[in-house]
Amino acid sequence: MRTSVALLSSLLILVLFEGVCSMKKGRKKTKNREKSKVHFSTEYDLVQDLLTNYDPIVRPRYNSSETVVVRIRFSLQQIYDLDEKRQILAISGWLTAEWLDEFLMWDPEEYGNISSLVLDPRHIWTPSLAIGNSADRMFQTYRHFWITVRSTGEARWQPGGTFAFTCALDMNYYPFDNQYCTMEVETWHYNSEKLQFNISKHEFGLETYLQHGEWEVYKTLVRYENVEYKYYQDEQFPEVFFSIFIRRKYTFYFMYILLPCIMLSFVLLMTFLLPADSGEKVNLGVSILVAFSVFLLIVAEKVPDTSDAVPIIAIYLMYFMAITALSVMASTIVLKLHFKGSEKKPPKWLQSFVFDCLAPLLCQKSHTHWHTKQQLRNSITMTFVSSPSENECKPMKEVCACSETESERGSADEKAKREKITQEWKKIAEVIDHLFFCTFLFLIILPLGGLVVFAHIFHTTESDIK
Ligand SMILES: *[C@@H]1O[C@H](CO)[C@@H](O)[C@H](O)[C@H]1NC(C)=O
Ligand SMILES: *[C@@H]1O[C@H](CO)[C@@H](O)[C@H](O)[C@H]1NC(C)=O
Ligand SMILES: *[C@@H]1O[C@H](CO)[C@@H](O)[C@H](O)[C@H]1NC(C)=O
Repeated sequence: MRTSVALLSSLLILVLFEGVCSMKKGRKKTKNREKSKVHFSTEYDLVQDLLTNYDPIVRPRYNSSETVVVRIRFSLQQIYDLDEKRQILAISGWLTAEWLDEFLMWDPEEYGNISSLVLDPRHIWTPSLAIGNSADRMFQTYRHFWITVRSTGEARWQPGGTFAFTCALDMNYYPFDNQYCTMEVETWHYNSEKLQFNISKHEFGLETYLQHGEWEVYKTLVRYENVEYKYYQDEQFPEVFFSIFIRRKYTFYFMYILLPCIMLSFVLLMTFLLPADSGEKVNLGVSILVAFSVFLLIVAEKVPDTSDAVPIIAIYLMYFMAITALSVMASTIVLKLHFKGSEKKPPKWLQSFVFDCLAPLLCQKSHTHWHTKQQLRNSITMTFVSSPSENECKPMKEVCACSETESERGSADEKAKREKITQEWKKIAEVIDHLFFCTFLFLIILPLGGLVVFAHIFHTTESDIK
């Protein structure tokens, strides 16, 4: 019994063992079959033949003293963003780099007429491009962008994406500004003995360029230079400078900031047309002052926080704010004159200055006439009062009544005189109000015209020069 059990168990173990072995073998067999399937592809053979013993670190030249020439180009797709505060321009597009790889040449007839291959940049040599003034990572591996290689050894690589780089902005003429920014493409590792760039075109490729709402590209420039740095005096480093010249489309700023300001400044003029009795003269001026400060806040948000440059629009708003403040003061002076009352007569010099100089100058004939009439009436009454025959020429009807009303008449005269003085002050206030109106009209129109002329000249000359 025991022996039979032992026999059976050993048999079982044997069967199991065999089963496992055959399973393993089966797997091996299928693996082999897959591998042999791949072997049929000539492309596989070609890649194997090219990349065995290929070291991606070695420059692709048989003669090591030769330089590798990389032809480079940039195709602009869109201006992504210009951050005025941080002074960063982000553009999207792609670089095209082409070079000759002497180790990747083959005879197409030997490999089933395959004339080109696509290879992973991790496996072959690349010029390791870097953005020298990048605002993001300087080095991007770009390993998702594969490389097309022809049988003649020509390799083409087109890494793309968003390129953000620093750019010194000149905000003096904001929002009528033109900016120019330069992207520095270089290879961080090679000097000009080992690698050189060649630019095929002296401008960007703009075939797929998409218009931007705020910026208009009016010029592009590509420049190649072997740059020498102070700290490595015997070496030169190849760099390509991609410069982009952009002009701000200022319609937005004109519509939403300048136009409201101009309108407000004309409303400001109305403070001088408002009658002083309405009591709203100063209120209106102060409201406009507040509105201007709100606009100034909006502009300040857009402009970089620097004191190097004060943008023209901020100066413009400041100017208008100053004018508004002045106009509030002027209105207060006018109100003061208007409500001067009858206590004091206006001084002679003020009268003659206002009625004889200002009123004719400002074409306020009515005021001059009023004044001369008043003067005439004054002299008449004076002569009337002073003439001794006055009482005599009065009819002799009621002498007692006459004497009775003497005091009444005196107070009436007094009243009339006071009324006249008040009236005179009011007239003076009116004339001065008018003077302020004209002055401020001039002050508002002057920079307006200047701005229009400036915007026109600046834009035309800029585009003509460059
Ligand atoms: C390698 O290139 C250099 C310069 O192009 C040349 O002077 C030199 O003769 C070349 N060497 C060989 C072995 O071809
Ligand atoms: C390759 O092209 C040549 C000429 O075009 C032709 O004669 C040859 O048959 C082609 N070979 C293959 C494998 O297709
Ligand atoms: C640069 O490329 C142009 C045209 O592709 C070619 O004529 C020129 O010789 C190249 N320059 C260098 C230094 O390789």
